Amino acid sequence: MAVLEIIEMPDERLREHSSPVTVFDEALKEQVSDLFDTLQDTGGIGLCAPQIGIAQRIILVHVPDDGYGARLYINPEILSKSTPRFVEESCLSVPGIEGNVVRATRLKVRAQNLQGESFELNVDGMHAVCVQHELDHLEGVLFIDRLSWFKKLRLKLAAGRSTGEAKAA
Ligand code: NI
Repeated sequence: MAVLEIIEMPDERLREHSSPVTVFDEALKEQVSDLFDTLQDTGGIGLCAPQIGIAQRIILVHVPDDGYGARLYINPEILSKSTPRFVEESCLSVPGIEGNVVRATRLKVRAQNLQGESFELNVDGMHAVCVQHELDHLEGVLFIDRLSWFKKLRLKLAAGRSTGEAKAA
């Protein structure tokens, strides 16, 4: 059990595709325990294994007081989703940036638990949004990849200004 360091941009490990979990053993339980401890420490609502350096398909979502509690999804897949809409997001691996992305707000998810047993669950609200955000991580996708070109441009200009590298046009 440990609080681990969260990998941040531009670390290339955030761009890797994570592998399915195939062995449900003590080592997996320890990894999941670390994931719980680390998420709790950050105060965030979701975290996945690749963010702590483990390229495996494990996600944890815990939106306080939403009725779902802390939910672990191993090898998650989305079976169905509602019509998407814009939702504001941020990411523990991309500090200091927020932006609107298009997400479904209701999902049916299939995943496995720590024992390897398969389950299906209907989720909605921020929990559903967070599941999609974490699933993106498993494919090496960050929420900033989904921002509009206009927002990306503004972020680029802001970054350029802060480092004094902005080029006047
Ligand atoms: Ni994230």
